[in-house]
Amino acid sequence: MPLVTTTEMFKKAYEGGYAIGAFNVNNMEIVQGITEAAKEENAPLILQVSAGARKYAKHVYLIKLVEAALADTDLPIALHLDHGADFEICKSCVDGGFSSVMIDGSHHDFEDNIALTKKVVEYAHAHGVVVEGELGQLAGIEDDVNVSEDKAHYTDPAQVEEFVTRTGVDSLAIAIGTSHGAYKFKPGTKPQLRFDILEEVSRRLPGFPIVLHGASSVPQEFVKLVNQYGGNMPDAIGVPEEMLRKAATMAVCKINIDSDLRLAMTAAIRQHMAEHPDHFDPRQYLTPARDAIRAMVRHKIVDVLGCAGKA
Ligand code: G3H
Ligand code: 13P
Ligand code: ZN
Repeated sequence: MPLVTTTEMFKKAYEGGYAIGAFNVNNMEIVQGITEAAKEENAPLILQVSAGARKYAKHVYLIKLVEAALADTDLPIALHLDHGADFEICKSCVDGGFSSVMIDGSHHDFEDNIALTKKVVEYAHAHGVVVEGELGQLAGIEDDVNVSEDKAHYTDPAQVEEFVTRTGVDSLAIAIGTSHGAYKFKPGTKPQLRFDILEEVSRRLPGFPIVLHGASSVPQEFVKLVNQYGGNMPDAIGVPEEMLRKAATMAVCKINIDSDLRLAMTAAIRQHMAEHPDHFDPRQYLTPARDAIRAMVRHKIVDVLGCAGKA
């Protein structure tokens, strides 16, 4: 099956009360682990690529890996640019074969965000590509930009209709208290999300797909494994999975997960190397790493997103 856009996936997800996982890919083992999990669970899939991933692996390698995933399955798969910072990177991904791009104008003021997003939408739509915009700003690290907690701010629901109407975006990422990376909430505090904002946004945009970034749960057993085998991660707290399950039944149709994949992969490699200090063939430790990605993605698909069997 060729690459698909997210239009059909989101329509079904909205109506069905589930969400599609958007997983960040950086190399072959990650693409394979995610794709195998989606295949086993017959789940629709969004593979997403950041600017950092393109810098690390090169656009052409990532495109070819995703083409291989398509050849290996019958699943609907969308290839999405994660956090496009400007028109040029979005254009380059539209021209370079992506089916979906995000223009992240969230750090601009409202009018500049609208102007930039609209320009990307016009170009992308003319080429059959869909666009995700963002209103509100998450805390945390994305592509070397560290947004401090005091700079982060929730989405203002009063702005969403104007933003969507004037830009023509196909989906909207909103800030309701999630953040990027493994350290989302202060240790000792109770994680909280602003479901009231999500409700108000969906009331103002009926049927419109909402996107949740920064949605890793940072399972404690993986942090423990990393630290047990020589790592030194401070207390890391992610978004509780029951909150993600709830968001998936609401207007949230796309849930972004990267940190949990990194954690699963790193824990598996650390454990393998500690248990087999004589191993030096990368296939020996990348096999459990790929398996760990697959298990993590299966868990997300089945137990969190609710998109198993929806391909
Ligand atoms: O939102 C950020 C994603 O986790 C991508 O991270 O820019 O380090 O590839 P990256
Ligand atoms: P996490 O860091 O919570 O995995 O979020 C990833 C993300 O939002 C990618 O855009
Ligand atoms: Zn993000």
